[in-house]
Amino acid sequence: MSSPVVLISEEEIQTRVSELAAQISSDYEGAEDLVLVGVLKGAFIFLADLSRQLTIPRTIEFIAVSSYGNGSESTGAVRLVMDVRGNIEGKHVLIVEDIVDTGHTLNYLMGLFESHRAASVKTCTLVRKAERAEVEISVDYLGFDIGDDWIVGYGLDYAEQNRTLPYIGVVSPDD
Ligand code: PRP
Repeated sequence: MSSPVVLISEEEIQTRVSELAAQISSDYEGAEDLVLVGVLKGAFIFLADLSRQLTIPRTIEFIAVSSYGNGSESTGAVRLVMDVRGNIEGKHVLIVEDIVDTGHTLNYLMGLFESHRAASVKTCTLVRKAERAEVEISVDYLGFDIGDDWIVGYGLDYAEQNRTLPYIGVVSPDD
């Protein structure tokens, strides 16, 4: 695999995360029971940075799902691997993702939290591959729209490598 080529720099990411945190803090001002739900594994770094810049009360949950199996293509069938620990009913849920690709994962999670009778369900993702969408997903807070490159860093992996890069880079898995 080639070395990652910078697509979104560390500085660009940090600036955008600050902007998103300010927008979310403003939008949820006065709302009771905001829960940020990070989708493992990829969202762990974004969630950590975003949540620490919010100026409003919030709690943190994690959920783990799997749709890719061992391959690199989504199967479309999302499997719940680990549920949130707390009760979601009546709470304002903000799902925090690293990436929206086909949209199946967010679509599944929105349905899940709505069925748990959340007060509201919104979505926040650092990057989106709009041209790969297979289901229509409304992303409420979006960091960056990107093309159909394979990206790593800032939580994203290729074969579990490069998750902790401070930037988002493009790799060519076939090299
Ligand atoms: C990635 C990403 C999203 C999902 C998006 O997770 O973190 O959860 O794929 O894809 P979709 O829009 O096509 O559903 P992945 O299955 O790679 O697991 P990971 O976060 O543990 O790396």
